[in-house]
Amino acid sequence: MRKIMDLIANELAAAFEAAGYDKEYAKVTLSNRPDLCEYQCNGAMAGAKAYRKAPIMIANDVVDRLSDSQCLAEVAAVKPGFINMKLKNEYVADYLNQMSEDKDLGLERAKAPKTVVVDYGGANVAKPLHVGHLRSAIIGEGIKRLARKMGHRVLGDIHLGDWGYQMGLIITELKEREPNLPYFQEDYKGEYPKEAPFTIGGLEEIYPKASSRAKEDEKYRQDALEATRLLQNGHRGYRAIWRHIMDVSVTDLKKNYESLNVEFDLWKGESDAQAYIPDMIERLKQEGYAHIDDGALVIDVQQESDTKEIPPCMIQKSDGASLYGTTDLATLIQRMEDYHPEQIIYLADKRQDLHFLQVFRAARKTGIVPETTKLEFLGFGTMNGKDGKPFKTREGGVMRLEKLIGEIVEEMHKKIAENRTVDADEAEETAKLVGMSAIKYGDLSNQAAKDYVFDVERFTSFEGNTGPYILYTIVRIKSILNKYQAQGKEIGKLKIEPAHDGNEKDLMLEVVKYNDVIETAFDELALHKICAYIYDLANAFNRFYHETKILTEEDETKQKGYIALLVLTKRVLEACIDVLGFEAPERM
Ligand code: ARG
Repeated sequence: MRKIMDLIANELAAAFEAAGYDKEYAKVTLSNRPDLCEYQCNGAMAGAKAYRKAPIMIANDVVDRLSDSQCLAEVAAVKPGFINMKLKNEYVADYLNQMSEDKDLGLERAKAPKTVVVDYGGANVAKPLHVGHLRSAIIGEGIKRLARKMGHRVLGDIHLGDWGYQMGLIITELKEREPNLPYFQEDYKGEYPKEAPFTIGGLEEIYPKASSRAKEDEKYRQDALEATRLLQNGHRGYRAIWRHIMDVSVTDLKKNYESLNVEFDLWKGESDAQAYIPDMIERLKQEGYAHIDDGALVIDVQQESDTKEIPPCMIQKSDGASLYGTTDLATLIQRMEDYHPEQIIYLADKRQDLHFLQVFRAARKTGIVPETTKLEFLGFGTMNGKDGKPFKTREGGVMRLEKLIGEIVEEMHKKIAENRTVDADEAEETAKLVGMSAIKYGDLSNQAAKDYVFDVERFTSFEGNTGPYILYTIVRIKSILNKYQAQGKEIGKLKIEPAHDGNEKDLMLEVVKYNDVIETAFDELALHKICAYIYDLANAFNRFYHETKILTEEDETKQKGYIALLVLTKRVLEACIDVLGFEAPERM
């Protein structure tokens, strides 16, 4: 369906033209004076100079030509030159009924679906997940779902950090502890016993130990670097250990992400890019894109229009080792070959923006990625604790994802148990669902690039701009609908009636925005706009609810209209939280 804003703008454009003005002035916005009107156009002010006329005269001319408008009930020229508009109640009801009949709720899916890769999650194998990874997973999952909702073919790739120095550290520590393992013997043939020489618990203990030892002991650090090098050059025993590390960690990661409702289509990682590196480097050297600078192989990415210096993209260190940029370029080769994406969206800490700028420019310059493929970096800020420093758990250690979720769910459980609307078993399940909304909404309601404070108390509150408040609203609607049905009435195909009063119309005017909000959120990769929308929508619903007798309404047509509006409101809220990656319980 066309966005309602566009439909109004169309009528307005015709009126501007009929009055002899350019239609480019017919821009419509939401009213910033909701007490006076619902929509407004400021085009008369914008056009005043060009036409050497007082804005109010232009506004009057345009308004004169809108007297038989399809969609507007009221339109007025107001000094100095605003055009204030109110929609016809029938028009709005009609629009909502069309939304109700559409399985996509009036959202126009992309006519030419694109293949979109979303690179998110980015966990580093065998290293603990930190809050940055939590944000990457939450935001990336939302972007993936949003792109899918818009009708694109989307591949979510976790892009594991699975090829670095942490592997060498683990191998070194393991070798010292268990030198008799077959993988460390000269005659190791590459057989791969099913049983890993460690559990996930073991790995979690080995890595930090090895990491801190390497910081104090230079010989140990050199050994770990050497082990990393040997692994990367194909040492059989080390490769076998690496596979064990991968198996054990990936199983654990899958569990973690599953508990967050985060699902990847591809479990690829930095290691998958390695096979592409030698040929890539060879070509870039031959074709003159890469040159030696201070011993390292680099690609210049500075552009004339730059106002500051952009250092070159380094693709090989003087000792022959490859770097983060090398891997990302090689991964682009693999992605272009295998999926031919038209858009790739990367999620990572915003402090990586220079890295992505260098990689994107290098990829374009060298033809690895054609102009027709859009490369985007969505950098996010830090999740801080109440003290304003990067978030830590109660004990002060780095965050363990399970722990963090556990704390929130426990808090939710307390509140839900207090309410006593559900029995003990259900309370546990419900606490999980509501807890998830607290974590995700708490994150997503902020602009991604901003730092935010992770505040368990605020995020788990049933009131205010929180996930639980949104769910509470949905649950309230569900409960009304259940009671309506319990009166022996059917929900079936009810029709929304033209609004009767202020609050009802306000609610309708919120529901109507759905397609616009989703489209804008995707164009701008701005999930916080969906949060802001459902907060407004939930508020509009609750105001309507508090003022309206729905279940005791005696006028049957009126009541049916209310119920139909509730059903649609619920569907819109549910569609939005589905994009955000959480769901509502039956009761809470
Ligand atoms: N593993 C990286 C980190 O922990 C994030 C990876 C982001 N994706 C990428 N293609 N570089 O920071």
